[in-house]
Amino acid sequence: MITVATFADVRVASSGRVGLVPTMGYLHDGHLALIRAARAASDTVVASIFVNPLQFGPQDDLSRYPRDLSRDAELADRAGVDVLFAPSVDEMYPEPPRTELQIADLADHFEGARRPGHFEGVAIVVAKLFAGIRPDRAFFGRKDAQQVAVVGRMAADLSFPVEVVPVSTVREPDGLALSSRNMFLSTDNRRTATALSRGLFRAADAVERGERDGPTLEAIVTAEVGDTDAALEYAALADAATVQPLTELTTDAFLAVAARVGETRLIDNVAFSVGADSIVVDRGERLPGPSVLEES
Ligand code: PAF
Repeated sequence: MITVATFADVRVASSGRVGLVPTMGYLHDGHLALIRAARAASDTVVASIFVNPLQFGPQDDLSRYPRDLSRDAELADRAGVDVLFAPSVDEMYPEPPRTELQIADLADHFEGARRPGHFEGVAIVVAKLFAGIRPDRAFFGRKDAQQVAVVGRMAADLSFPVEVVPVSTVREPDGLALSSRNMFLSTDNRRTATALSRGLFRAADAVERGERDGPTLEAIVTAEVGDTDAALEYAALADAATVQPLTELTTDAFLAVAARVGETRLIDNVAFSVGADSIVVDRGERLPGPSVLEES
């Protein structure tokens, strides 16, 4: 693996089918699953590590975001990355961008409503990664279901010749979805945090028993999280492509939850693929033992 800091160096080091895994670093097993998916489908695997200031709002603490490039480089190398792209803010934004990308409607609800400007910042940085690296495929975690929809629509609207590949959420053995933010959870918070996935799994069980009513599914998650001291922000069923609220599970969708546990804001979801006579539920993959985050 080589580590480079400019788009030009990434392109020199890449050949054949290029798979891109965009990250903000502090890698965990969720990122490693994206890298493995990219490895299986690509000749050159590029992983980017860039804490994108444009996607952080005034409430989000950009300076608190965990950073450790040498730890990340070791994990990326072991997982099969060929080129690690770790640009400076100047390489990514030599000047503050005057171009704005607004993904109409898809960013209106859920994370978009609570984090104004967030998806515009994500869209700009991902568009720059697509333009500068020119990947054939780019791999994104399903945990950020709204991000997957926004990035896929942005790539299609702007005719980027890239396939956006969603990869299932990776979970700790007790169900907690992996996130770099989990490292901020105290022992008590960590226990409370499992309520999010527990609620989602209960709702997924209900779907498997035939439940299709959005408010009923949302109420299952709300009740589970409401039993703890986590502060629920929303539990919502949404169309997977348009990210509009759904009252009935009649099309591909995700059931999402967001809650504040202590000082840390967590999100999670389960995804539903709706076929003619059955629904496939993607609850994500549980690790057999604690993740690299919990080990460190
Ligand atoms: O999901 C993330 O880590 C970020 O939003 C991404 C896609 C790397 C863009 O900064």
